[in-house]
Amino acid sequence: MAKQFLLKGRVAIVTGGGGEIGTAIAHRYASEGATVLVADISLEKAKAVADDIRANGGLAEARALDVTDPAQCEQVVKSTVEIFGKLTTLANVAAAATPLGTVEELTLESWRTAFDVNLTGMFLMCKYAVGEMRRAGGGAIVNIASSHGHIGMPRRPAYCSSKGAVLQLTKCLAIDFGKDNIRANSISPGAIDTLRAALQRFKSREEANAAKGPAYLVGRTGKTEEIAAGAVFLSSDESAFMTGTDLLLDGGYLAFKGTTTNPV
Ligand SMILES: NC(=O)c1ccc[n+]([C@@H]2O[C@H](COP(=O)([O-])OP(=O)(O)OC[C@H]3O[C@@H](n4cnc5c(N)ncnc54)[C@H](O)[C@@H]3O)[C@@H](O)[C@H]2O)c1
Repeated sequence: MAKQFLLKGRVAIVTGGGGEIGTAIAHRYASEGATVLVADISLEKAKAVADDIRANGGLAEARALDVTDPAQCEQVVKSTVEIFGKLTTLANVAAAATPLGTVEELTLESWRTAFDVNLTGMFLMCKYAVGEMRRAGGGAIVNIASSHGHIGMPRRPAYCSSKGAVLQLTKCLAIDFGKDNIRANSISPGAIDTLRAALQRFKSREEANAAKGPAYLVGRTGKTEEIAAGAVFLSSDESAFMTGTDLLLDGGYLAFKGTTTNPV
C-alpha cells in the first residue's frame, strides 16, 4: 500500500525550529508532506534545518524570529502566506533557558524572560496566525508545554508556572476558535534527551540520561522524534476529535511522581 502522508497540503510554522525538538518536528512535518517555515531567534540554526529539509526533497524556508517581538511574529505569519499561499499549522516550540532558583534567588529579569518567551510568544504567534488559518478553512495549533507544567519542581518557579499557563492558553484557544475549525492542543514532554535539558543540572547528556532514566516507567529519557510524532498526530486529521487538551509524552513519569524522593 502507498504511504499515506498525514500532512499533505499543509503549511506549517515551527517556532524554535532550530532547537532540538523544533528540528525534529520540522523534519517530521516535512516528511509527512507539509511545507515548513522554520523560525528561530537564531537564523543560522533555522537555515540549517530548512536546508536539510530541502536536501531531503522537502519544501522549507527559514526566518529569523524573536517570538517576544509582535512585529516579527506578524511578519513571519505574513511571509509564510506570501511564500507558500496559506497557513494551516503552527507549532509553538520556542522556550527560554531559565536559570534554576527559588523566587528568592531568581531575578525579575529571568522571571520575565521565561514568561515573555514561553507564554507571551505563543500568544503573539497565535494572535497573528488564527486569522490566516480561518482564511485557509481551518488549522491546528500545537503548543509545547512540559510535564513540569503539571507539577511543581524544586527551584523552577518561572518555568513550571509559564508551562502551566501554556496548558490554560491552549484550552482558551480551542474554545475561542473551534467554530473556525481551528484545533489547539499542547504536548507535555517529560525529560527528553537534549543538550539544553541536560546541561541545566548535569555535565553531559550521558550523565543526565543516566540520572533521569530510572525515574521513568520506560526506564529512559525521551527522544526528540517521539515528541515530533505527537506533533504530527495533533496537526493531522488523525486527531480530528481532539482539541483543548494535552498530550502527555513523559514515559510514565507523572504516573508515579509521588514515589521518588529525587525528583528529576
Ligand atoms: N528538552 C526537554 O527535556 C524538554 C522537556 C519538556 C519540555 N520541553 C520544551 O520543548 C521545547 C523545545 O525544547 P528543546 O529542548 O528543543 O530546547 P532548545 O533550546 O534546543 O530549543 C529551543 C529553541 O528556541 C529558540 N528560542 C529561544 N528564545 C527564542 C525566542 N525569543 N524566539 C524564537 N526562538 C527562540 C532557541 O534558539 C532554540 O533553538 C521548549 O518549549 C521546552 O520548554 C523540553
